[in-house]
Amino acid sequence: MMNGRELIYNSCNNIENPRPPIWLMRQAGRYMADYRQLREKHSFMELCHNSDLACEITLQPIKKFNMDAAILFSDILVTAEALGAEVDIVEKKGPVIANPIRSFDDFSKLNDFSKANDELAYIGKTITKIRNELAPEKALLGFCGAPLTVASYMIEGGSSKDILQTFKMIQNNPELFNNILSSLSNLTIRYIEMQRENGIDALQIFESWASLLPEDMYLEHVFPHLKKIIESCSHPDKPLILFALAPISLWKHFAKLPVQVLSVPSNISFEQIKAIAPNKAIQGNLDSRWLHCSQEQIIRETNKILQNPHSKRGFIFNLGHGITPKTPEENVAALCNHVINFS
Ligand code: CP3
Repeated sequence: MMNGRELIYNSCNNIENPRPPIWLMRQAGRYMADYRQLREKHSFMELCHNSDLACEITLQPIKKFNMDAAILFSDILVTAEALGAEVDIVEKKGPVIANPIRSFDDFSKLNDFSKANDELAYIGKTITKIRNELAPEKALLGFCGAPLTVASYMIEGGSSKDILQTFKMIQNNPELFNNILSSLSNLTIRYIEMQRENGIDALQIFESWASLLPEDMYLEHVFPHLKKIIESCSHPDKPLILFALAPISLWKHFAKLPVQVLSVPSNISFEQIKAIAPNKAIQGNLDSRWLHCSQEQIIRETNKILQNPHSKRGFIFNLGHGITPKTPEENVAALCNHVINFS
């Protein structure tokens, strides 16, 4: 029987599989009682910085639900933190950054590349530890944030539905915005290499907030940075997966980038994505809200995805976005069992 690591490898490379592999965005996190227990004793950033605890949390969903891939427990904001952003994750509020960047003066106080890069070394240790403890039959995924998604937190100082400060900076101070994105991109390129050197099998890039800018603004001011990261890090044996919450018109541009896998949100169909990216593998895209419904409904919706002609080859089962906090664990178990036993 083929193991999870082989299934993931095959799917990324468009090789036929006996069944699709499964992992879930945000599979380690607050919906799990085991995670919440640790979280009661430590801040989120403490958990990220402690290699033993980050390793333990990475393995929690694998032990319980047997997904085919583990994803490093960390956050996209660790690159912002390494550059000097004071990141805290606040209950019910999400990320808060105490020193947002609004001026060249703020920007000049950030760490340089070499210092920021050294700051991220702890993640290399965590990855090595996970690879030693994770069964060799499971794939290990790394990840990072894409430039707009990370920069928007650094500029806004936290979560924002309209990223107004970022929008205004692009208009009024495009040079500053470009400097922030260049610093982040250079660090991210090295960060991806570092994750690979320490043993990840594939890496997902999260551009979650791509649709928060007008498309022409995204294409002019952000896309060149994303393109640079992906072109610098494209590798035939270490696949890149690109996830974005973005309209199909932006996916047309993403489809041209040298990544192996496109991770499709729930509002975009496999037919739509295959029409613009016929040769790429795809990942997705069960709406995470189904996990709050009955197991019968979950299996019905999962079957629709599994029976799609585009999921026969070059396909990784996942959600359209991350698991949400109050998801019942038994529903995650039912979903994973169903996909793992699909034939
Ligand atoms: O997928 C995984 O299990 C790996 C770990 C992971 C986390 N965050 C852990 C986390 C990954 C891949 C992320 C990515 C991430 N982080 C994104 C992109 C993906 C997406 O969902 O859009 C973004 C935008 C962030 C920024 C961030 N970090 C937010 C908005 C929040 C708070 C709200 C939330 O969604 O949970 C965090 C904190 C965070 N990152 C938690 C976890 C488990 C919750 C922390 C807690 O309160 O215990």
